[in-house]
Amino acid sequence: MTLRIDYTNMMGDVVKGGIAASDWQSAGDAFKRAHAGLGRRRDAGDLGFLALPDDDKLHRQSTDFANKTRGRYDDVVVLGIGGSALGPIALRTALLAPAWNTLTKEERKGQPRMHVLDNVDPRTIGALLDRLDLERTIFVVTSKSGGTAETMSQYLVVRDRLNQKTKNASEHLIFVTDPTKGALRALANADRIPAVDVPAAVGGRFSVLTPVGILPAALVGMDTAGLLAGAKEIAQRSATDDLAKNPSGIFAMLQFLADTKLGRHIHVLMPYSDPLRDIADWFVQLWAESLGKHKTAGDNGVGPTPLGALGATDQHSKVQLFMEGPGDKTVAFIAVDEIGTDLDIPKLHSDVKELGYLGGHKLGELLSIEQRATAGALARRGRPNFTIHVDRVDAHHLGALFMLLEIATIYAGELYGVNPLDQPGVELGKQFTYAMLGRPDADAARKEWDLLPKPDPKYSV
Ligand code: PA5
Repeated sequence: MTLRIDYTNMMGDVVKGGIAASDWQSAGDAFKRAHAGLGRRRDAGDLGFLALPDDDKLHRQSTDFANKTRGRYDDVVVLGIGGSALGPIALRTALLAPAWNTLTKEERKGQPRMHVLDNVDPRTIGALLDRLDLERTIFVVTSKSGGTAETMSQYLVVRDRLNQKTKNASEHLIFVTDPTKGALRALANADRIPAVDVPAAVGGRFSVLTPVGILPAALVGMDTAGLLAGAKEIAQRSATDDLAKNPSGIFAMLQFLADTKLGRHIHVLMPYSDPLRDIADWFVQLWAESLGKHKTAGDNGVGPTPLGALGATDQHSKVQLFMEGPGDKTVAFIAVDEIGTDLDIPKLHSDVKELGYLGGHKLGELLSIEQRATAGALARRGRPNFTIHVDRVDAHHLGALFMLLEIATIYAGELYGVNPLDQPGVELGKQFTYAMLGRPDADAARKEWDLLPKPDPKYSV
């Protein structure tokens, strides 16, 4: 099986402070209602991400472009933020060889390097633009809405450079955006810049399996069909309203009960795998932006706080807090059962107690044992945790993980009683930014901004 969740360590009969048997029993019916809610939203056309594994036409938009331009570019640069960047970053870390961008062209088998600019810090952007050969570079400008300030500013900076330094700027651009709406789509049409679609019914943080992730993946030679096949497998396994058989439902229900019944409001995702480290960041955005909401206007808000961690690295950082800090967390591990390339730990210094016992084992074995040891130690101290096992890190398994966590997020939205697809809370900050930058339609925000208290010197040191 591609992916398996072991949640023994979440249950109250195993771990002190775990989920009570009575709560778990009633969870089955609550889950049936959540599953029905998901079905209603799917039927209403809101959950476009569920259909992506079967959308060959959309998949081909990316692969056709990648095939047509194969060999033309040495560098692929994604411009985007939030859901338009975190998916490509997670894909890059998981599926490209370590230190990919430092490998020679031969070592990369002719595939381009991949960069993701997910911020507007001028130092990062300036440094990258200065060292790229722009005639051999393609910029993938990714924005579902086609108007996000950060991505549009990046585009303007890049466009100006391309205008100055290349023969034909449009040969170095492709837009990933809504099929009909937004400024990027209009620009694509006006300037004949190639563009591929983020379907209208797929929001940013659910878009990794649209061209948002699939186009850069195809451009650097990843197995895009494998990603979609893995996602499809989990979508199928999650089509049942029987909680015990539905892995996405299990993820959502464990976290929801832990939060609402056990006061475990912080949900840690902790892969024991360098390639999977950035899936934690991707998950943090998905879980936070989807579930942190008011249920009714003006209430105190609901929603868990997601937190990323990396094993074994964070055993020497956050795990102390997980073990002995406030009992307000769950830890969801991701364990990779077949590590692939492994390294022997040589039998050197066998007479030194601290080193001798390591010789003869393997590094992958150590990583796996440390994951089990940490899970066991947390359980022993009454700290509920569970483990998502994947066979290996490849496109299929990554697609499965993406889909698992996306479907779980919709279920969690149903359980919390919030809409997981919107993000009204980020709007006010955007409006204030527009106001300060002088965007013409931001007068109301400007007035509100001007009414805010000014920094008071007595509160400043
Ligand atoms: O999940 C979301 O909708 C957001 O995080 C967006 O991905 C982010 O704001 C970027 O938006 P856009 O792709 O429209 O530029």
